[in-house]
Amino acid sequence: MAVLVTGGAGFIGSHTCVELLNAGREIAVIDNFVNSSPKACDRVRKITGKDFPLEECSICDEKALDSVFTKYPIEAVIHFAGLKAVGESCVKPLEYYDNNIGGTLSLLKAMRAHGVKTIVFSSSATVYGDKNQVPFNEKMETGKTTNPYGTTKLFIEQILEDVSKADREWSVSLLRYFNPIGAHESGLIGEAPNGIPNNLMPYISQVAVGKLKEVGVFGDDYPTPDGTGVRDYIHVVDLAKGHLAALDRALKVKGTEIYNLGTGKGVSVLELIHAFEEATGVKIPYRIKARRAGDIAASYADVSKAEKVLGWKAEKNIVDACRDSWNWQTHNPNGYND
Ligand code: WQD
Repeated sequence: MAVLVTGGAGFIGSHTCVELLNAGREIAVIDNFVNSSPKACDRVRKITGKDFPLEECSICDEKALDSVFTKYPIEAVIHFAGLKAVGESCVKPLEYYDNNIGGTLSLLKAMRAHGVKTIVFSSSATVYGDKNQVPFNEKMETGKTTNPYGTTKLFIEQILEDVSKADREWSVSLLRYFNPIGAHESGLIGEAPNGIPNNLMPYISQVAVGKLKEVGVFGDDYPTPDGTGVRDYIHVVDLAKGHLAALDRALKVKGTEIYNLGTGKGVSVLELIHAFEEATGVKIPYRIKARRAGDIAASYADVSKAEKVLGWKAEKNIVDACRDSWNWQTHNPNGYND
């Protein structure tokens, strides 16, 4: 039986495929490559020495989805596919709602038609909004998201909860990621954003290789220890391993469960810049700029539930992540376009 990985050519998807294959699982990957490259899957094959089917397919294409479920013996889905740029979502809300929510509805209908009722969903800490106190825990009220991207994650969580309430045979695992960074130690797969990076770590990495001039620090007047934004940066390999733990449990229990996947530690923008300098010996020039619209001061996880129930916790730290990001960036200065 196979695990279908939607968006499996993406940053987190490709790292999760490595861990699934290393754990001896059979996988099938679909991706529309709108923000990824099929080369990432070739690299996954190289890292693991294992092959797997890759189909170019949008989650919005119901006919294509139906043929995928017909073609492969799928027992569960790990659902990464979706548009994920916070800033872009503010400019193109319709595309985000259509693709992320519409696409998920198509995927769920295809799963139901084929009797596949186990899904692990790539959600986000963004669903906690800006009204909760850190560290965020899974019992907290969600909502008041600050951008359409975050709102799609909120709505999809609600859709999945409703589906599992309507049919008790469904197993739903909602994984709320904090800030994924780093790369596989081989340097063969990593984060390859299109254009100028929105996120902090790929921006730092591109300054380090000389592609960008300096990091703009979005505000140093937040109520945080050094005034810059605080986030919970989790190594992408730890995050990938968290998916395997969640999948194993979802294959055993029914209903909806929610887990934070983070480190439980808050790290500021300046602390991450300094950690990168320490890990690589590369000086990172930066300039303090105005706050970015939609940002919150601090976001980091209470990670006790994932440790207690899934037996999973992050093992790598931000210096490991900076070193691995640097290794990926220096070997692939243009991502998968080299
Ligand atoms: C981190 C911190 C910025 C860039 C979002 C989504 C989340 C996930 C990751 C997809 C903040 C500061 C950033 C820069 C800066 N999405 N910053 N200069 O916004 O916490 O999370 O991306 O996987 O769901 O919500 O991540 O990396 O953009 O920002 O100062 O050039 O770095 O203000 O404090 P964010 P980020």
